[in-house]
Amino acid sequence: MSTLSQAIKFDINLLHKYDQPVPRYTSYPPATELSENFDEIDFRGAIASGNLQKTPLSLYAHIPFCDAPCYFCGCNTVISTHKEIAEPYLGYLMRHIAQVAATVDRDRLVQQMHWGGGTPNYFSLDQVERLWHCLQSHFTFDQDAEISLEVNPRSLTKKYLQGLKDLGFNRISFGIQDFNPQVQEAVNRIQPEEMLFEGMQWMREVGFEGVNVDLIYGLPYQTLETFKETLAKTIELDPDRIAVFNFAYVPWLKPLQKKKISPETLPSPEEKLQIMEMTIETLTNHGYVFIGMDHFAKPDDELAIAQREGKLHRNFQGYTTKPESDLLGFGMTSISMLQNVYTQNYKGMQDFYKAIDASKFPIERGVTLNADDILRRSIIMELMCQFELSQQEIEAKYHLTCDRDFGKYFAPERLKLRQLEADGLIALEPDHIEVTPAGRLLIRNIASVFDAYLKKNDLEKFSRSV
Ligand SMILES: C[S@@+](CC[C@H](N)C(=O)[O-])C[C@H]1O[C@@H](n2cnc3c(N)ncnc32)[C@H](O)[C@@H]1O
Ligand code: SF4
Repeated sequence: MSTLSQAIKFDINLLHKYDQPVPRYTSYPPATELSENFDEIDFRGAIASGNLQKTPLSLYAHIPFCDAPCYFCGCNTVISTHKEIAEPYLGYLMRHIAQVAATVDRDRLVQQMHWGGGTPNYFSLDQVERLWHCLQSHFTFDQDAEISLEVNPRSLTKKYLQGLKDLGFNRISFGIQDFNPQVQEAVNRIQPEEMLFEGMQWMREVGFEGVNVDLIYGLPYQTLETFKETLAKTIELDPDRIAVFNFAYVPWLKPLQKKKISPETLPSPEEKLQIMEMTIETLTNHGYVFIGMDHFAKPDDELAIAQREGKLHRNFQGYTTKPESDLLGFGMTSISMLQNVYTQNYKGMQDFYKAIDASKFPIERGVTLNADDILRRSIIMELMCQFELSQQEIEAKYHLTCDRDFGKYFAPERLKLRQLEADGLIALEPDHIEVTPAGRLLIRNIASVFDAYLKKNDLEKFSRSV
């Protein structure tokens, strides 16, 4: 057992004991609860209610294309080198934006916008500009809005980055995954070190304020030693935030993972735990703050500041400093997350096109939250972001009165909480639940106590917690 920083304790026995599939809680209920039995009237109603309350907005645009498949990839992508397929999609995407925007009041401010994929830099700069102007013409952006996109280092140029900066993007997520050539080859993602350093230098030269780097641990042929080197080079790049994702190996869901990644090439669970321990130790020793789950940020980064001030939030895009906004997702497969309604657009491109042609919202699945969902969401998000929970605050916010106070409402959960306490993951005070340093790495497991949907037979839908 070792204490890596004041905030986290690495306990290998506990990590083994609790290594089981659990949702990542970028939402509650998790996206697996969205069903086809959903009426778009609920979506319209939720937008209207956001209009009344002037709820701020967060926008997401999905650009699904990639030139070549990375074998580990868990995202919803369309692989093609025929760049012309992007043009019709852009047209439909802009029609979708106009369709949704027509129902949204113009005085609601956009606080955050993110373009993800796939690979947003599959679009030419001209296509990026057209999408940008479409969004600007339909929505009102806050001056301080965080505007970000994911870029794949292959096929990036300085001119392209300059174009993004000139438009108004201020944050970039740079997908590195791993520096090691053997790992890169095994996952079909060859990007030499020089390319990564050059890309990072360009981002700094054109003046991006924030740069995130994505890494994945648990990939084929990774060892403690190779990942040490990947981390050393990443630290040399000096990003503001680093995400170190646990490889979600779900061959039963992802045919390419099944075909191209054989389990014998993957690091063993013991080695993965060592990689995780070394990662936390290395990054915290180099001044990065552990935000939660798989995120690290420099102490002066706004995520780290928000966490210190108790103002961190979580939505489908992960940790964020922007509270209580309605997330509108544009394009195929995108998720919208309004205060009490979540929807997901069609995953198939043709289904998405057909719905837009028929002037219908391209919603494939959705869920309308009830009062119990909203209460549990609040608790789960508080634990995920702040690592503590005040029962009194929850009681006041959700009007839980004496005959049904927190203790009575969550009486069935008490046994599991006691078990977590006995294992040293939480401390239970009369009015307070505090996640211990040993519990921080198992925060998904702790939050899952309050998940009313977590049934045993659902577990295979989720990746493992370690
Ligand atoms: C939506 S992807 C797109 C990023 C961009 N296309 C790229 O590859 O650089 C965002 C991030 O998800 C992560 N990711 C993708 N598949 C994953 C998997 N199976 N397990 C864990 N993380 C994954 C990668 O770190 C990737 O950078
Ligand atoms: S990791 Fe990025 S570039 Fe690779 S297939 Fe997935 S979305 Fe495309």
